[in-house]
Amino acid sequence: MQHSITHDGEPKANELRKRLSAVSGIGQRTYTPTQIVVEKAKGCRLWTIDGRELLDFTSGVLVANLGHGHEGFEGQYLKYAGSLPRTSYNMVTEIEVAAGERLVASMKSNSRAEKVLWAASGSEGIQKAMWAAMHKHPDRPILLATRFGFHGKKGLAGDVTGDTSPNPNVRFISFPMEEVRTPEFYEAELDALAREFPDKIALLITEPYLGAKGSFHPPKWYHQLLQKWCNRHDVAFIFDEVQSCHGRTGNLYAHESYEVEPDLVVLGKGLANGEPAAAVVGRADMIDSLNYGEASDTFSGNPRACAAVCATLDIFERERIVEHCRKVAPVLRQGLEALKDEFDFITAVRGEGLVFGVEMEDPEAANRCVLEAYRGTGSKGVHFLGPLAQKVLRVSPPLIISESEIEQGLETLRSAWSRVGSIR
Ligand SMILES: Cc1ncc(COP(=O)(O)O)c(C=O)c1O
Repeated sequence: MQHSITHDGEPKANELRKRLSAVSGIGQRTYTPTQIVVEKAKGCRLWTIDGRELLDFTSGVLVANLGHGHEGFEGQYLKYAGSLPRTSYNMVTEIEVAAGERLVASMKSNSRAEKVLWAASGSEGIQKAMWAAMHKHPDRPILLATRFGFHGKKGLAGDVTGDTSPNPNVRFISFPMEEVRTPEFYEAELDALAREFPDKIALLITEPYLGAKGSFHPPKWYHQLLQKWCNRHDVAFIFDEVQSCHGRTGNLYAHESYEVEPDLVVLGKGLANGEPAAAVVGRADMIDSLNYGEASDTFSGNPRACAAVCATLDIFERERIVEHCRKVAPVLRQGLEALKDEFDFITAVRGEGLVFGVEMEDPEAANRCVLEAYRGTGSKGVHFLGPLAQKVLRVSPPLIISESEIEQGLETLRSAWSRVGSIR
C-alpha cells in the first residue's frame, strides 16, 4: 500500500514525502493529515524543512516532556553516557544500577515500588509486568483489563487493549467514560468475576486515564476501588503509566494523582525524554518470580537509555518541572474551554495536568482542525497528531511550555479554526 501526502507551497517536504513513500511502508506510521517534515526542533518549537514554525502541542507523542534540545538535559545525558559502552547485554554498568535506584526512590508515595525491570518500549514493559504477575501465580490464568484501554499492539499488551481479545483468558471490565456509574456497579462487576473464577485471576491492568480512546479521566475513587478489590483478592494491580509518567498529570506519576499504590507501574514515553526506554517498577516478589533470561533482551536497560533516565530525573528536580506544569495547566484548560465556547464544532474538553482531549463533532471536523492548525497564520502554526478515536485532538505540549507560548498557540488556533466552519 502506498500513500503520499502533499501540501501546496512545500516543495522540499513534498519531495521528501515522495521518497519516504517509495522507501518505507505506511504501516509504520500513524495517520495524520499533515505529515509534517521537520528539520529542526528547540524547546516547544519545530521548524519544517520549508521554513515554517510550529508550536509542538504533542511532545512527539507525550515523549519529549522536557521539550526538544533541552540544554540541561542534553548536558547531563552526555555526562552520564560518557565513555560507557553502547550496550550492556551481559555486562553491568553503574548507570543501570543508579537509574534503577533513582526510579525506585522517585516513587515516594508507593511503598510497593521496590525493584525495576527494564524494557525498550511501552508495550514490552506491559508484557514484562504481566509476565511478572503471571509467574508469581502460575496457577491463575485469568487476566482482567479495563475496557477500551490502549497498552500497545504487541503480544500480551495487544491482548489487553480495546474491548475484545484474541486471548481467551482476558476479561474486560467497565471504565468510566461519558457515563460514570456508582462504585457499587463497578464493584459488582468485579465480584461476579471473582465468583466465576475463584483464585484464578492473576492480574488487573488499567490506565490512569483512557488516552488513546480520547481522554477519559476517571474519578479518583474508581482506581482506589480497583486497588482495594485487587488487595482483597490478592490480584496484581498493574498501572500503565507509559503515557502519563513523568509529570503529565501534574505529579511526577499518575498513581500519585489518583492516590493509589499499584503493585507494578509501567513507565515509557517521557521516562527518558526521547531515548527509547521503558520500565516496570514494583513489588520485588513479583519481579523476582522471573528467572535468569525470562525477561532479558538485546536493548533493555542499555547504558544510553539509563543515562537518559537519570538526566530526565535531574532536570525534573532541578527545574521543578512538575510545579511548572501545575502552574501553567489552568491557562491551557481555560483557553481550550474558551475555544469550545467559541466554536460549535468543539463538543467537549477533557483532561488533567497538561494532557487534554478536545472532542470535535465528527472526524471531518477533527481532521480539518489538525490541518488548519498546521496552516496556522502566516508562517506560524500548531502541530497536532491525527485525531484519536477518530474525532479527538490530543493537546499535550512539552511540560516546559510557558504561559505566553500557550497563549500564542491558542491565538493561532482561534484564527486558524475560524476557517473551519466556513470551509465545511
Ligand atoms: C498507555 C499506553 N500504554 C502502552 C503504550 C505502548 O507503548 P509503545 O508504543 O512504546 O509500545 C502506549 C503508546 O501509545 C500508551 O499510550
